[in-house]
Amino acid sequence: MAHKKILEDVYFVGALDRDRKLFDELIALPYGTSYNSYLIKGSEKTALIDGVDPPMYGTLLDNLKNLNIKKIDYIVSQHGEQDHSGAITMLLKDFPDARLVTNKKCQTLLMDLLPIPESRFKLIEDGDSLSLGDKTLQFILAPWVHWPETMVTYLKESKILFSCDFFGSHYATEELFFSDWEILYLAAKRYFAEIMLPFRTSIRKNMERLKDLDIEIIAPSHGPLHRPKDLIWDAYKDWSSESVKNEVVIPYVSMHGSTEAMVKYLEKALVSRDITVKMFHLTESDPGELAAALIDAATVVIGTPTVLAGPHPNIIYAAYLVKVLRPKLKFVSIIGSFGWGGKTVEVLADIISSLNIEILDPVIIKGYPKKSDLKLLDGLADMILARHKGLLS
Ligand code: FEO
Repeated sequence: MAHKKILEDVYFVGALDRDRKLFDELIALPYGTSYNSYLIKGSEKTALIDGVDPPMYGTLLDNLKNLNIKKIDYIVSQHGEQDHSGAITMLLKDFPDARLVTNKKCQTLLMDLLPIPESRFKLIEDGDSLSLGDKTLQFILAPWVHWPETMVTYLKESKILFSCDFFGSHYATEELFFSDWEILYLAAKRYFAEIMLPFRTSIRKNMERLKDLDIEIIAPSHGPLHRPKDLIWDAYKDWSSESVKNEVVIPYVSMHGSTEAMVKYLEKALVSRDITVKMFHLTESDPGELAAALIDAATVVIGTPTVLAGPHPNIIYAAYLVKVLRPKLKFVSIIGSFGWGGKTVEVLADIISSLNIEILDPVIIKGYPKKSDLKLLDGLADMILARHKGLLS
């Protein structure tokens, strides 16, 4: 992506990465991603906000060359993670007069991760401003969106908030401001689930601190920009709240059809009770979609066969995902079938034991479900309905 003008003297100079398949070797990227770097030309000084992932440095440099940028005074590093900071060593070499502007915590992290001499840094504190002449950068520390050192930058005169990972999405598009909100909403929600969900208390605090700024554009470090800010702002308010919806998420695996028969029976039983059900066959579906569904659900029911005396390994992965993402969900249950025995419930209960949720009576049966087993699933559906009614009334 070539450079793009956002407003007078404010440019996108980052890079699209359409071909990247995995982020952090963990998160699937069905729509690729972008590393958004921004150039601000003040009447006296020029600043660059964040860099790009190191393999994309050539694109950033080309964009700067095409804008005829020969000198950068300030490189602002908002976050130490290498998808934004990894190219800073190259930037400092190519722009030898530039000072690296960041907070103390980020400085420590950058010096741990990259060979940057201390003399190149210019440290700022929460609320500090930096004048570029006719433009002013204001820095606001925003810990835990995504790491503890993260900060955001407000360009006062242009009313732009450079929000780093905050309000981002893994979505590669040539459009600076993506025109299809429904698509962007899903990409941003998935990104929120994978990156932000465990930090939602911090997100609420940081949004409270930012709410009085006059923001016309949010410019994150991944994905399209937001103008006006309201759609993404309101979505974040919803996702980061502690309220849940009348939804059950069912991640499941079935080896020979018994667990699948149980899962499908339970799905019908829940739907007939007006509960929304989202099913994820884990050997076929994308964990990112499961993560996004976990944002809203009041309940998760894990469906697993017993294999090697315990849950299927993909189910262990899903349970661990629930543990580390710490979704808002209030109830969990386990259903499944075994042939000759095992410790499925114990293993899963142990994985999620750190979560403050009620475990509803599991339904673990022997072999293919019989009438009496299906009655147990009706009982589980009744119990979920009663719990949801109590919660949502
Ligand atoms: Fe986009 Fe936390 O780095």
